[in-house]
Amino acid sequence: MKVLGIDIGGSAIKGAPVDTGTGRLLADRFKIETPLLLSPTEMADAAGMIAAHFRWRGPVGIGFPGVIHGSTILTSANLDKKFIGCDGIKLFSKVIGRPVALTNDAAAAGLAEMRFGVGRNFGGKALLLTLGTGVGSVLFFRGALFPCELGHLPMDGRDAEKRVAASVKNRKNLSWKEWGHRLGCYIDILEKILWPELIVIGGGVSAKHAKFFKYVKPRVKMVPAEFLNEAGIVGAALWAERERRG
Ligand code: BGC
Repeated sequence: MKVLGIDIGGSAIKGAPVDTGTGRLLADRFKIETPLLLSPTEMADAAGMIAAHFRWRGPVGIGFPGVIHGSTILTSANLDKKFIGCDGIKLFSKVIGRPVALTNDAAAAGLAEMRFGVGRNFGGKALLLTLGTGVGSVLFFRGALFPCELGHLPMDGRDAEKRVAASVKNRKNLSWKEWGHRLGCYIDILEKILWPELIVIGGGVSAKHAKFFKYVKPRVKMVPAEFLNEAGIVGAALWAERERRG
């Protein structure tokens, strides 16, 4: 199936048509930087611009950085708070003019990694974390996915993502060692609670895994994601396909 995958992030919205049978992009991705917080209507317009760029007439999958129940967006930690309570499917499909499926951004990234990326032959319990503006999380077990909000676990008196997101490393100018140790403490907590058999680290920073994995020291195998910046786009498309098949 050919699906337009759109990934909404803290600093950009990007999309590309995806072949859901191979996980490959069918065209170069189109990205719109969003240095300022966009309102829901502005974000929907940006998603519409992506669909228009590809003259898209088919199904659309969107990954959003918040909790999604059904079609409702329940949280928006790093985007405009006006998203909270929005019917996301209505919001985006009205502007795009095509059927839209909506899921959490990390769940989307995880879908791509487990189907076509680093987790493709793994059937056990896997935890995928995305380290970007915030921290996204999703658990997989034998084909089932469970979107989580582990970035908001309390750590040192604040949300863990305010300590370990990649954006925090940049903002606070932390060395790889300092940040790697923080991440190690965080992952230690997660391992004690969840006991994953495999940990996948995604987000743009995973490309630099050689610089910080050595400080993390998890109990189980930890691997960088393979898709890097495309995971969210590919996974959003896979989610739309999954929703269509029911
Ligand atoms: C949000 C999650 C999202 C993650 C990564 C967190 O702040 O609460 O829903 O997956 O950021 O974007």
